[in-house]
Amino acid sequence: MIVLAIETSCDETAAAVVEETGDPQRPWRVRSNVVASQVAIHREWGGIVPELSARQHIRDICGVVERALADAGVAEFGAIAATQGPGLVGSLLVGLSFAKSLAWARGVPLIPVHHLAGHIESLVLEGGEMPLPAVILVVSGGHTSLYRVATPGSYELLGRTRDDAAGEAYDKVAKLLGLGYPGGPVIDRLAATGNDRAVPFPKTRLTHPDRNAPHIEGRRDFSFSGLKTSVLRHVTTRRLELNLAEGDPLPAKDIADISASFQRVVVETLVERLFDAARWHGATSVGIAGGVSANSRLRADALARGAARAIPVFIPSLALSTDNAAMIAAAGLRRFRRGGADLKVGPDINADASLALT
Ligand code: KG4
Ligand code: ZN
Repeated sequence: MIVLAIETSCDETAAAVVEETGDPQRPWRVRSNVVASQVAIHREWGGIVPELSARQHIRDICGVVERALADAGVAEFGAIAATQGPGLVGSLLVGLSFAKSLAWARGVPLIPVHHLAGHIESLVLEGGEMPLPAVILVVSGGHTSLYRVATPGSYELLGRTRDDAAGEAYDKVAKLLGLGYPGGPVIDRLAATGNDRAVPFPKTRLTHPDRNAPHIEGRRDFSFSGLKTSVLRHVTTRRLELNLAEGDPLPAKDIADISASFQRVVVETLVERLFDAARWHGATSVGIAGGVSANSRLRADALARGAARAIPVFIPSLALSTDNAAMIAAAGLRRFRRGGADLKVGPDINADASLALT
């Protein structure tokens, strides 16, 4: 079967065409994958403006879907997959409503998809089926969560951030340093030129249980807001020490050292928790998905740790690590083939900004 997929949960309007291969090890092939990024629009405001995002999705969606079908050279498809949540509700509504209408007009089934299931299945889309059980870290601007996958298509939450997502911490620290938006790629680049031990930013240790989350044996949560506050405090102190006037930037060496030191703490935290959870839960493979998986140090450190422990590490290519619709098609096909009563989707299905995965 060929699936058309649509993703509009945040600031990328994306459509893709993916087909089934019949190969159980590599079940899906990407025929086209089109992403229209809104990053230039939001950069001006230093972050994503939900209302602008929804409006831009409306402008772009027809062209992006037409382009995905044209690139794939198909006019017909057997189903439409679309992101139902989580995300910005106005943005989600554009893609889901479009998908609903098109599915109805073409008489094909609509498969609602959880955005994070998409990120997780992006690993399989590219690397083939993962040895199970697997532990997967989904780390982006909106999420930092650990999942265990014991059977294909079922995702058990092992822990998540209690405050900022790792990507959000990158974006906020970049803003603090006057580096613009999005912060991840800039800090990643500058960190390579700095001393990662120059500033002793603390690692947050969570010793108390999360009152708002169910108790899970071996639960591992994250917290990045304390680190962000430490960076703010350090920057304020340095500016006073250097007698900088308001608006004067910190010296380049300071920015490089802060970037490298901040990045070391974030990456060490992510890698430690991921491999710790993998050992605790007896995982035979690990994965990292989501926008922050593009980070060069995270990729290198995770691959090195995996090699040392003889455990395969799945990380998507850069094109599939940030938001895209090919991953939504993959998760949609997974869900469609699993079938079941939960797939009886009617026209009343709605976007859900805080949709749960497990
Ligand atoms: O998955 P994504 O495209 O969108 C969300 O669902 O959030 O992730 C975007 C996030 C942003 O916070 C961005 O700063 C971060 O991923 N990011 C990075 C890198 N590239 C993107 N963070 C660290 N290092 C990178 N190289
Ligand atoms: Zn995402």
